[in-house]
Amino acid sequence: MEIKPKILMVCLGNICRSPMAEGVFRHACESNVFPVEIDSCGTGGWHSGEAPDKRAQRCMQEKGLDISHLRARQIHKSDLDIFHHILVMDKQNYLDVLSLCENQEQKNKVKLVLDYHPEAEKSEVPDPYYGEMADFEEVYHMLETAAKVFIEKHKA
Ligand code: 4NP
Repeated sequence: MEIKPKILMVCLGNICRSPMAEGVFRHACESNVFPVEIDSCGTGGWHSGEAPDKRAQRCMQEKGLDISHLRARQIHKSDLDIFHHILVMDKQNYLDVLSLCENQEQKNKVKLVLDYHPEAEKSEVPDPYYGEMADFEEVYHMLETAAKVFIEKHKA
């Protein structure tokens, strides 16, 4: 039996980039009839229990995607075993998640989400928290491209 890939999106606060990534990848995978399970979390726990940032919600809503029901949570060590793909937004997230890993199998699952972006200079999803709506738009478009490439690579 085929195992459904489980994807975990990780950023710092789990209120801007990673819930957007969760929504973008979920929509792209559904549209491409690629069954996956997706969740998101933050390396930090300051926003645990909160809904996504209003600007992230608005940016996604404008594309027809509702992420208002998502609630922030902090990464847990068990995530490193449960999920098959752990996609982080920036290099600090990468270091923080790697520091939680206890074996090579866990480490091998951790990748920058923009490893799936064809433009090499785009390696990190910039944190839009202190930015403006245009910064959330940029995040959305980067993630949309990464989702397309992820599906091309991993859909059987
Ligand atoms: P995120 O953005 O990591 O994309 O969710 C941030 C959200 C909150 C904070 C930093 C980044 N913060 O410092 O509270």
